[in-house]
Amino acid sequence: MKEAHRRRVLVTGGAGFLGSHLCDRLVQAGHDVLCVDNFYTGSKDNIAHLLREPNFELMRHDVTFPLYVEVDQIYNLACPASPVHYQSDPVQTTKTSVHGAINMLGLAKRVKARILQASTSEVYGDPACHPQQESYWGHVNPIGLRSCYDEGKRCAETLFMDYHRQHRVDVRIARIFNTYGPRMHPADGRVVSNFITQALSGQPLTVYGDGSQTRSFCYVDDLIDGLIRLMEAEGDHSMPVNLGNPCEVSMLDIARKVLAATGSRSPIVMRPLPSDDPRQRCPDIARAAELLQWAPTVDLDEGLRRTVAYFAQRMRDEGTVPAAVNDAATPAPTAAKAAGSRRNSAVASQAGAVVVPAGVVPAAVRG
Ligand SMILES: NC(=O)c1ccc[n+]([C@@H]2O[C@H](COP(=O)([O-])OP(=O)(O)OC[C@H]3O[C@@H](n4cnc5c(N)ncnc54)[C@H](O)[C@@H]3O)[C@@H](O)[C@H]2O)c1
Repeated sequence: MKEAHRRRVLVTGGAGFLGSHLCDRLVQAGHDVLCVDNFYTGSKDNIAHLLREPNFELMRHDVTFPLYVEVDQIYNLACPASPVHYQSDPVQTTKTSVHGAINMLGLAKRVKARILQASTSEVYGDPACHPQQESYWGHVNPIGLRSCYDEGKRCAETLFMDYHRQHRVDVRIARIFNTYGPRMHPADGRVVSNFITQALSGQPLTVYGDGSQTRSFCYVDDLIDGLIRLMEAEGDHSMPVNLGNPCEVSMLDIARKVLAATGSRSPIVMRPLPSDDPRQRCPDIARAAELLQWAPTVDLDEGLRRTVAYFAQRMRDEGTVPAAVNDAATPAPTAAKAAGSRRNSAVASQAGAVVVPAGVVPAAVRG
């Protein structure tokens, strides 16, 4: 890479799911990358392969405390992203979003760096319009269990816009929709990782509500491409930009796709919908298409195949043999595990859950 294009880039939350993929891409592109993380949800395993690269550096640091480093660009990704993680210490979650944003914006102001905020579709709350455009202000509960995350991210956006208007900081705001792929946390309670780990270990797949609620899922490589394009776009692009995959899929459909991708014979069980769970979320990505010439390229079947391969390999490395996977290299499930799988299916039925055999759609969801 020519010296003029080589940048010093800070990635907060760089040891997390998205952050580690972003570090990969930036290191490959020849930039000097400083990954900052407090390992709250991130893992050294995600970035271990980068430690031998001369243009990669790792620093343990909590973004709720100030940081002074000389950089040209800052990607602010530090924040737990899944409800199980961000709800386990909600005060720390709000602090990470708000104090973290203040500290990183203060740094950007001092060193005149461009700064990108990893915001979220959660700023739209349980949206009253579909698909969501950036101009929609959202429908958010300020006092619910998700509020530490949703309102923390909304406040961070406010800070980004105010640092831009008041201090002329060059800001970018990416509103990220559900993203999945290798290095997701296996136990983060999110739908894709839940379904895959359940399917691979022969457990029933848990669908909340009647399974007709939809989500859109973006494969991680596409998302990272969008983040880099937004950061690199010349001109004033301070307004939020949605990044996500607009292809909507129902929970039940994704459960069935996971069963197909893993080759699992697990049943699907229905459970009551948790409070504050949005019924539908789908990005309008017209702004990203126009400003960044960006659109997702990896379809759900292909993305799931790659993600399943990652989870299956991880289970093998940890010594837990996947119960089923569409991969000739995968050892067959042991008799004990298969028996465990049958036991689990029986438990799901006994607990009063509605059990949907793989491939069968309940009447409420058809059409
Ligand atoms: N993954 C998604 O689908 C998604 C969707 C919308 C928004 N986002 C946003 O993208 C960012 C990354 O999400 P992710 O899925 O990679 O989550 P993740 O939990 O895997 O990564 C977050 C990283 O931030 C680190 N971190 C948390 N608090 C910190 C602190 N106080 N100081 C320093 N580091 C801290 C964690 O250790 C972890 O490495 C988050 O800001 C999240 O809100 C993600």
